[in-house]
Amino acid sequence: MIKIAVVVGSIRADSLNRKIAKDLERLLPAEVEFDYVDIASLPLFSQDLEADFPAAATEMKAVVEAADAILFVTPEYNHSITGVQKNAIDWGSRPWGSNSWGGKPTGIVGATTSPNGTKFAQAALASIVEWFKSPLFTNEKITLTATDGTFDENGNLQADVEAEAKRYVDGFIAWIKDVPTHTVA
Ligand SMILES: Cc1cc2nc3c(=O)[nH]c(=O)nc-3n(C[C@H](O)[C@H](O)[C@H](O)COP(=O)(O)O)c2cc1C
Repeated sequence: MIKIAVVVGSIRADSLNRKIAKDLERLLPAEVEFDYVDIASLPLFSQDLEADFPAAATEMKAVVEAADAILFVTPEYNHSITGVQKNAIDWGSRPWGSNSWGGKPTGIVGATTSPNGTKFAQAALASIVEWFKSPLFTNEKITLTATDGTFDENGNLQADVEAEAKRYVDGFIAWIKDVPTHTVA
């Protein structure tokens, strides 16, 4: 079984990005499963809290470490990633020397309501992934501008968007199986 830890960078109830994550999950072959990373339970990161590492952060790190790969499903806030997502990334990167994200094959997709399709947020995340020395999947992209026609009445992706999502999922999984990985101390 291939486990993908999924970080949805929005905690709002009706998040487009959570819908996209669920649609991608529906397209997975039987040998792959999504494990959603709980970013909503984390306290705001402060180095003062590291000495008594919070249980929510320890649990999140365990989910990430148990995964074969990571998928960020990111909104865009002010041409970057959301604060809640950055907070989770910072917790997962600590304590110094045990970065749970480091070296894991990583994918980035995103949806927004504006025409740029999260390209600034995805670039910001790619820069973090590069710093983590993690291989990044770039052969396919999902930079979705959600409109009234993106989802059908059941909340599923319309056929053309679903075809793009399927290409991403298939390409990402084939790449995960192939990509050389290494552990970062
Ligand atoms: C504080 C804030 C800043 C935003 N800035 C951007 C932005 O820079 N670029 C963009 O494409 N959308 C921006 N948006 C719109 C979000 O992409 C949109 O609300 C999207 O639906 C959020 O993702 P979610 O549906 O998964 O919560 C912003 C929204 C908020 C609340």
